[in-house]
Amino acid sequence: MTNKTGDTAILHPTIFVIFGITGDLAARKLLPALLGLYSKKMLPQRWCIIGFSRRSFSREEFRDLIRGRLNIKPGQFKEEDVKHFLDHITYEQGKFDEPEAYGRLALRIKETDDRWGQCSNKLFHLSVPPALYEGILRNLSSSGLSEPCADDTGWTRVLIEKPFGNDIDHARNLDKLLGKLFKEEQIFRIDHYLAKETLQNILAFRFHNHMFEPIWNKGFVDKIHIKLFEHNGVLDRGDTYDPVGALKDVGQNHMLMMLAAVAMDKPKSFTAKDIRFERARVLTKIRHAPLRSSKDCNRRGQYEGYRSEPGVGPDSQTETYFRLKASVNSSRWRNVPIYLESGKAMAESRTEIDVYFKGGKGNGSTDQNIVTFKIQPNEGIKIKFFVKTPGSTFSVEPKTLKFRYTDVPAEHWQNLPNDYERLIKDAFVGDQTLFASTDEIMASWRFITAVMRDWSKLPLIGYPKGAKEIA
Ligand code: BG6
Repeated sequence: MTNKTGDTAILHPTIFVIFGITGDLAARKLLPALLGLYSKKMLPQRWCIIGFSRRSFSREEFRDLIRGRLNIKPGQFKEEDVKHFLDHITYEQGKFDEPEAYGRLALRIKETDDRWGQCSNKLFHLSVPPALYEGILRNLSSSGLSEPCADDTGWTRVLIEKPFGNDIDHARNLDKLLGKLFKEEQIFRIDHYLAKETLQNILAFRFHNHMFEPIWNKGFVDKIHIKLFEHNGVLDRGDTYDPVGALKDVGQNHMLMMLAAVAMDKPKSFTAKDIRFERARVLTKIRHAPLRSSKDCNRRGQYEGYRSEPGVGPDSQTETYFRLKASVNSSRWRNVPIYLESGKAMAESRTEIDVYFKGGKGNGSTDQNIVTFKIQPNEGIKIKFFVKTPGSTFSVEPKTLKFRYTDVPAEHWQNLPNDYERLIKDAFVGDQTLFASTDEIMASWRFITAVMRDWSKLPLIGYPKGAKEIA
């Protein structure tokens, strides 16, 4: 297969090492994204995946496991592409904290380089629980795997998944360690929401339609509501979800990245450096309303039946839903309420941001103009406005202006990489725009850690599975 990205940086042979290849994340996101890139001819001409994990498999068992995990829908990929894709994957068994295993991995990588007659690029993906990050990072460094080849060719990069730490102190320590072992340009901290086409479109909408910028502030905006609702419960992730909870699972990362997109100032330029700078700047200014009680609309909830999910304790106090009132302490946004709300086991899966404008018969009235960014599903943008009802009396009625991605001719978007495909491709070419910087991670943890301090003051309320909203 030939590469058709036109990106010369992606043409260099690359070895993609996945730590934890047999885990849930690799199955749900990573391997399908790599297969997607392969079928779209967006991988280098020479590439391979080395899976690294604790369990031992024969070659056939491993291939069957990966094939099953890819969960391919009928007609989704050409059978020939799937077969060739699987031919590119090999397996190295080892414990994540066992230095000898990294020696074996280094040998496997060297054999591949020798066979290709070239020093390849290496991309290491940590698809493991965060508690294992430190051991893997230290071993990558001590085994020399974090270095380019002797002649300085072939970069090495490391892709790190969220959650990046458990709180501000933990995140700071992890970041320090990373900074000691790798250079910033080698570190790609993933928040896959940054790579959602609709999230990026918020910047295009705000900064290329000049009529909105003058009113995108506290003088005109009444409130902002950011929602991330999922119809599914925790599925089979109870054991990894329960120690984390909704606030850290999606609040610390995806929801704050949505907030950053809607509230950040215009970057000096649309380069990675300037965009990340502005995202971080707005994140440092977020404050939360007091969490004394359920006043101020703050809520913590748990869906009924959650405690019987596999891997969840019978007395779990973990929230699967939260609503948090926040604001951005800047001259642009001071005192504008920003609601962050997310829940599992809700009536429907829906992620969107509503920006309510002042006006009508008073703030909070139903006569407000609303700009809605629909992140997923039915991706697009909606504007609620008012027109005169035809007739002899002067009354008005609401109408909607809509842009939907599905209105764009299919050939423009059908072959677009999805969020994980986009992230992997950007890591290949070294573009860090859609990856979180140290400053963004620290700012978001600082905010969430402050919330966590008072979190238990809010009572945990039960809600039925399939709830539309939580009162
Ligand atoms: C993940 C969370 O980061 O994002 C999951 O750990 C959540 O709990 C998922 O389901 C949502 O992502 P998406 O892309 O399906 O909206």
